[in-house]
Amino acid sequence: MQAVVPDRGIAITKSSGVSLRPPAKINLSLVVFGRRTDGYHELHTIMATVDLHDDLTLRDADTLGIHLHCTGLGCPSEGENLVYRAAELLADHAGISPALEIYLHKRIPAGCGLGGASSDAAACLAGLNRLWKLELSREQLVPLAAQLGSDVPFFLYAPVALCTGRGEMVQPLSHRCSRYVLLIIPDLQVPTAQVYAHYRSNECRNEDFMRRVRYFLRQGDLDGLVIQGINSLDCTCMELFEPIRRLREEIEQEGIGPLQISGSGSCLFTTSGSREQMKQWAQRLEGRSLAQVYSVTFYHQTGPFLEVQHADL
Ligand code: C5P
Repeated sequence: MQAVVPDRGIAITKSSGVSLRPPAKINLSLVVFGRRTDGYHELHTIMATVDLHDDLTLRDADTLGIHLHCTGLGCPSEGENLVYRAAELLADHAGISPALEIYLHKRIPAGCGLGGASSDAAACLAGLNRLWKLELSREQLVPLAAQLGSDVPFFLYAPVALCTGRGEMVQPLSHRCSRYVLLIIPDLQVPTAQVYAHYRSNECRNEDFMRRVRYFLRQGDLDGLVIQGINSLDCTCMELFEPIRRLREEIEQEGIGPLQISGSGSCLFTTSGSREQMKQWAQRLEGRSLAQVYSVTFYHQTGPFLEVQHADL
């Protein structure tokens, strides 16, 4: 049995549970400037969610504590899991001693620039806000989200937003992308911090990137933007991770692409206006031992704050 709360739409069950589908994101553009005094880099990125998602269910437990049950692709242990940390942080903030069961099923591969862990964490904050009836506004959740990671606030505002600062300053955009997306995920995780540590900002190239980003933003043309392949971290990722560079070259030589990276990698992606072409490309790449391939579309539902979900507890 469940009752759907009409204003925000997160499904609430009689046994007090909420269920959400945290989506993956890709960076339609990513411009990274210099390193700041706090060690982070100033950036300008436009992110959009795609319809590859994890499943997150939160419900009251019979015993005190946060009990995390994680299944699926690569589950980090409790203390390292961003969902666990999100629950701890919100409980602390609200002065709650949690008795909480968390069921997380991971479909979004980790360490590949798709923001899976960040999305799970944002969904956890939004879901617990509802489960615990805290009635915190999105703006009140953002500082907590930002403590968990630079990408986390975006997922409170998804599906499409411009993110600046270290990534935590989010401005939702009304523009949408209508292209089909092919995600190619190499069998290799990329530590974000390593890519940023080796990154050297190139002012001239960034100026050119920003000129193009501003042009397509003014036009409201995100389809035009994404095919520009703007990502300041691309070269650094390819220099550090030779197998990714080789995989991209190999696939592009077969006429599939051009391929760009999402975030700091390792995910490679390309987009097309033709669903048929995407299907053909996905079929040609299926079964390669070096990579997982997903054919997805942009996900235009609003973020975990507003998303309609179904809890079946
Ligand atoms: O914020 P988050 O924990 O996701 O960042 C992971 C690492 O990526 C940071 O520790 C930092 O080294 C790097 N980073 C950065 N500038 C950003 C975002 C991340 O240097 N804007």
